Amino acid sequence: MKILIIANRLPVKIERTEDSFVVKRSEGGLATGLGSLETDAEMHWVGWPGVHVDDENEKQEITEKLNELNYHPVFLSGEQIENYYEGYSNSTIWPLCHYFFAYIQYKAEYWEAYRQVNTLFCEEALPFIEDDDIVWIQDYQLMLLPKKIRDKKPKVNIGYFHHIPFPSYELFRVLPEREQVLEGLLGADLIGFHTHDYMRHFISAIYRVLDLNCNLDEISLKDRIVHVDAFPMGINYEQYHRAPSLPEVKKISKRLIEELGNQTIVLSVDRLDYSKGILHRLNGFANFLENHPEYHKKVSLAMIVVPSRDAVDRYADLKTRIDQYIGKINGMYSTLGWTPVYYFYQSFPFNELVALYDIADIAMVTPLRDGMNLVAKEYLATKRGKPGVLILSEMTGAAIELTDAIIINPNDTQEIEAAILQALTMPKKEQRIRLNNMQKRISTQTVKKWANDFVKELLYISKQNNEIF
Ligand code: UDP
Ligand code: G6P
Repeated sequence: MKILIIANRLPVKIERTEDSFVVKRSEGGLATGLGSLETDAEMHWVGWPGVHVDDENEKQEITEKLNELNYHPVFLSGEQIENYYEGYSNSTIWPLCHYFFAYIQYKAEYWEAYRQVNTLFCEEALPFIEDDDIVWIQDYQLMLLPKKIRDKKPKVNIGYFHHIPFPSYELFRVLPEREQVLEGLLGADLIGFHTHDYMRHFISAIYRVLDLNCNLDEISLKDRIVHVDAFPMGINYEQYHRAPSLPEVKKISKRLIEELGNQTIVLSVDRLDYSKGILHRLNGFANFLENHPEYHKKVSLAMIVVPSRDAVDRYADLKTRIDQYIGKINGMYSTLGWTPVYYFYQSFPFNELVALYDIADIAMVTPLRDGMNLVAKEYLATKRGKPGVLILSEMTGAAIELTDAIIINPNDTQEIEAAILQALTMPKKEQRIRLNNMQKRISTQTVKKWANDFVKELLYISKQNNEIF
């Protein structure tokens, strides 16, 4: 029995260089979280390598490189990338699930490409699937896939995990293809969400859209029962907790501290995404600077914004607005020796990222909506010698577990401002107590536990289904 993970994105992405290709770590919670999973089971991945390739020889070269890691690439055409990935996945479903109603785009060609690419993933995955395997489908780009695989392999164990919020029925109902999407998901034996709220919303959508027989965590179909449950995703805690003592990381931390002097560093790390509340955060920080001149030259915000989905208009527009806003704040407050906002529009490799977590006194994680948010957990796990304070949005899945953070409503800029002040003045003892409580939680609810819990429950449910029906 092997585990076959099928996700739009592999844990690594391929980037073109002048004469060849390089393999890099993917960003995003799904890829970094699942990519750091250590398991005894034989594990294979099927997914898009994140690059557009037409040439058959190049496809062959990439396939060979990835096969060494048990990764099996699914190549997408330019049109599929535009209509399935940038289109239906990221301009229809993503804004829908993150409550950005006005951003949702409805286009027939998006839906058509979404169906087509879900079928393509099914065709690419089928040759690897044996009846006793675990097929674990990940996330909103592949919601039709559970049913497509079930139709071809009725007995196989199929799980699906939704890494982003599932919105309330009142929002979900606006989706023209709501029935097909839900029917696609019901091909799975087990459907997982990060929180009970998302799970509740999903069950309510099933009940109202499909009029099926459901209770709190089960949906009865003619030939099977589909189970729904909450599994909050964690991180590879040990990997992050050990990282600050790695010589390479120590070197980077030391250099950063030398360069930054003894300023207090507030860190934020996100993909460039409107769901992350980056402008609201900047607004909160700007208000803080305006109302607290005593902290000028003493505090800086280090803002890491990882390029993401930049071919989608909403993302490109947001980039311009972030650039302008940071320019405005720095233009207004900078002095010769002090930059209020250090802005990095780039992705950092693991060692540099954990060095930044290590030296940051405060982390600000303030999305307007976020399925889970692993950055918050990674920051806390990295803390060792000196504690750190986490300011966390109540709109993240992580806020349910990390109740010792300073919890804020990201739409309330006054609250963000007050949270910064609270973090700056929090006694070290209180910082330590809060950190310990949160570390206790994330060191036990790891990504390995998350995966094991899911797989265990999946095997139990599908065994029942195969015995009863
Ligand atoms: N990340 C990264 N390089 C960076 C910045 C972030 O690899 O320069 C990773 C980070 O470690 C985290 C992931 O990107 O694991 C972001 O996951 P999160 O759940 O916070 O948000 P998502 O991007 O999935 O919405
Ligand atoms: C979120 C989604 C993932 C996605 C990631 C990065 O975490 O839940 O499915 O992979 O963002 O986005 P991208 O579009 O670059 O894959």
